[in-house]
Amino acid sequence: MPTNSIDSLLHENRRFPPAAEFSAQSTAKPSIYDDAKADRIGFWADQARELLHWHKPFTETLDWSNAPFARWFADGELNVAYNCLDRHVLAGNGDRVAIHWEGEPGDSRSITYAELTAEVKRAANVLKGLGIRQGDRVAVYMPVIPEAVVAMLAIARLGAVHSVVFGGFSSESLRSRIDDADAKLVITADGGWRKGKVFPLKTAVDGALENGTSTVEHVLVVKRGENDVEWIEGRDLWWHDELAKADAEHEAEGFEAENPLFILYTSGTTGKPKGILHTSGGYLTQVASTHRNVFDLHPETDVYWCTADVGWITGHSYVVYGPLANGATQVLYEGTPDTPHPGRWWELIQKYRVSIFYTAPTAIRSFMKLGRSIPDTFDLSSIRLLGSVGEPINPEAWIWYRDVIGAGATPIVDTWWQTETGGIMISALPGITTLKPGSAQVPIPGIKIDILGEDGTRVDPPQGGLLVVSEPWPAMLRGIWGDPERFRETYWTRFSSGNTWKYFAGDGAHVDSDGDIVLLGRVDDVMNVSGHRLSTQEIESALVSHPIVAEAAVVGAADEATGQAVVAFVILRSDQESAQTVEEASTLLRAHVSQQIGAIARPRQVFVVAELPKTRSGKIMRRLLQDVAEGRELGDTTTLTDTTVMQIITGQVK
Ligand code: PRX
Repeated sequence: MPTNSIDSLLHENRRFPPAAEFSAQSTAKPSIYDDAKADRIGFWADQARELLHWHKPFTETLDWSNAPFARWFADGELNVAYNCLDRHVLAGNGDRVAIHWEGEPGDSRSITYAELTAEVKRAANVLKGLGIRQGDRVAVYMPVIPEAVVAMLAIARLGAVHSVVFGGFSSESLRSRIDDADAKLVITADGGWRKGKVFPLKTAVDGALENGTSTVEHVLVVKRGENDVEWIEGRDLWWHDELAKADAEHEAEGFEAENPLFILYTSGTTGKPKGILHTSGGYLTQVASTHRNVFDLHPETDVYWCTADVGWITGHSYVVYGPLANGATQVLYEGTPDTPHPGRWWELIQKYRVSIFYTAPTAIRSFMKLGRSIPDTFDLSSIRLLGSVGEPINPEAWIWYRDVIGAGATPIVDTWWQTETGGIMISALPGITTLKPGSAQVPIPGIKIDILGEDGTRVDPPQGGLLVVSEPWPAMLRGIWGDPERFRETYWTRFSSGNTWKYFAGDGAHVDSDGDIVLLGRVDDVMNVSGHRLSTQEIESALVSHPIVAEAAVVGAADEATGQAVVAFVILRSDQESAQTVEEASTLLRAHVSQQIGAIARPRQVFVVAELPKTRSGKIMRRLLQDVAEGRELGDTTTLTDTTVMQIITGQVK
C-alpha cells in the first residue's frame, strides 16, 4: 500500500523556491534543462567527457539497435577505479580527505585520496595474485568499513565484477548469491559492530560455503571485530597479511565502457532475487553527474554524508562511485543511529561539519518520534542541503526534516530511483527547482519519464498511472545476471511495442496540476520496508520451507515507522496444529524467516489462520489480507470462492 497519498498532500501547500545565494553558487544552472532537451544524447556525451577520464575516448554515445540491451559509449575505454582515485591524486588533490570513517565503538580514521589510492593498488595486486581477472565475480560481505570501499574499487580496478551482499543477509541468502554469480572469491570480515555488539560475518561465509560445491577458491578476511573465527588453511587468508606482502604499484588498465562493473541482487515480484547487472562508463557518468548536480557538490568545501550501507544500491552509487568519482570528502559510519546514544548521527554531523546529508524517510520518521530535543542539542549549522531516498517522504516528515535538521532553511531533494536505474532519475535540482514537500517532482535533465494508464496511453493529470522510463539512460541496468528472458519480461514487455521500448518501473505515480511527479508506491508484490525492497513471494517461500507450515501469504501493511511492515498469514500442517501454540508457531516462524533471508525480512506479525482467501482460479487475494493487516474495512470479496473465509480470518486476527 503506498505510503504517500494524494489526501495527505492536500494538507501541505507550501512551496519553497531556492534562495538567491544558493542559486548563485549552484553547480547546475537552469540552462542544463534546455541543453538536455535540445540534444539528450549529446548532453550525456558531454557529461561523460567532462566528468570522467577516458583511457580511450568514445566516438559513439548510444547504441540501442539491440534494444532492450543498451550500449553506451561502447567504443570508449576507462578504468572506474582510476576515475575514483588516481586522477584526483594526479590533479594535486591527494591530500584531500576521501573518507572520514567512524566505527560504531568510536574509533575513527580519516583517509586521503592518496592513501585510498595506495590501499586500492595493493588490494588490486592481492586479488590479481589470487587469480582474479577481468570478468571474474567476487562477492563482498562486509560491515561499513573503509576496506569494503577498498575491496569494491580493487575489484573494479581489475575489470572484475563485484557482488556486494548486505551484511544483514543470512548465510542462506549469501549462498544463493555466491552460487548464482559463480563467485571465485569472497571478501569478508571477522565481524562488524552493530548496536554495541559484534555480528559475525565470517561464520556466515563458512556456512554459505559448507556444502563445498561452490566455485569459491579463497576467502579474504578483514580483521575488524576481533572475534574468534574458524579457519580453513589454504582457503582463508587475512586481508592485512596479504596486503602487507603485496606490491605497492599497480597501473590501472582501461576496459571497454560496457565491461560489467557489478551485480547487485534485489527482490522482484516472483522467485529468487534478481542479479541486476551494471556496467562501467554509462553508470559512472550518470552517478557522477547526478551526485554533482542533485547534491550541488562543491568538492573543495563540502562534506557529504550518505547514511546508506554499501550493500545497497544507494551505497554503491552515492557512497562509493558518485562521490569518489567527483573527488568528494565524505563521512562513512559503521553503526546504527542510536548507538551508543540517540544523537549519534547529529554528533557526527557536528564533528565533521557535514554540509550535505542524504538519508531515508524511515530514519527521519524515527527521529521525529524521539522529538527535536535530541538534534537540537547539536550544532547542525554546517548543513546546507538535505536529501531523501528509498520511499515516498510524507510531507510532515519533509517539513520536520527541513525545520529541525535543516534549520528551517535548507533545500531538500527527494530522489526517486531504483537498483535497476543505477542512478537518480527524478529529483529537484536544489538551485533551480521550487520545492514541494511530498513530491520527487521532475525528471533530471536527460531522463524521459511518462505516466501511463493500463492501456499504455498517457494519463491526463491529475490521474494516477504507472511510471515508465521512455528513453534509455546511461546508468540503466544492462540485464539480469544469467537471465535475459526474465530481464525482457520483467521490465520491457508491458508497454513496449515495435521499436518503441519503455521501461516499466513497477511504481504508481501521478502528475499534479503543477506538472510535478508524485510517487505512490509499488504496484506489484514488492514491499518497501524501511526503504528496503522485499518480495512477498520470497518470504512466503521461506515460510513454507518450514516443516510446520502448509501454506503462507505475505503482505506489506502500512506502518508508521517503516513505511510498510511484513505481515504473514500461515496455515499450519494439520499434524502440527495441536503441537504448537499459536504464539510458539509465530515466534518460531519469525525467527525462521530471519535465518533464511535476514533480519530485515522478519515479519512484524505472523497470524496462524485456518484458511486463506482465494479466487476461483486459486490465486490468493493479498489485497484482502492487507485490509485485515491494516485494520481496514474489507474490500470487494465477491470473487472469493468462499466469502466466509474473510470473516473467519478477521475474527482470528482480532
Ligand atoms: O518504489 C520505489 C521506491 O524504492 C523502489 C526501489 O527500491 P530499490 O531498488 O531498493 O532502491 C532504493 C534506493 C534507490 C522504487 O521502485 N523509492 C525509491 N526512492 C523513492 C521511492 N519511492 C518514492 N520516492 C522516492 N524518492
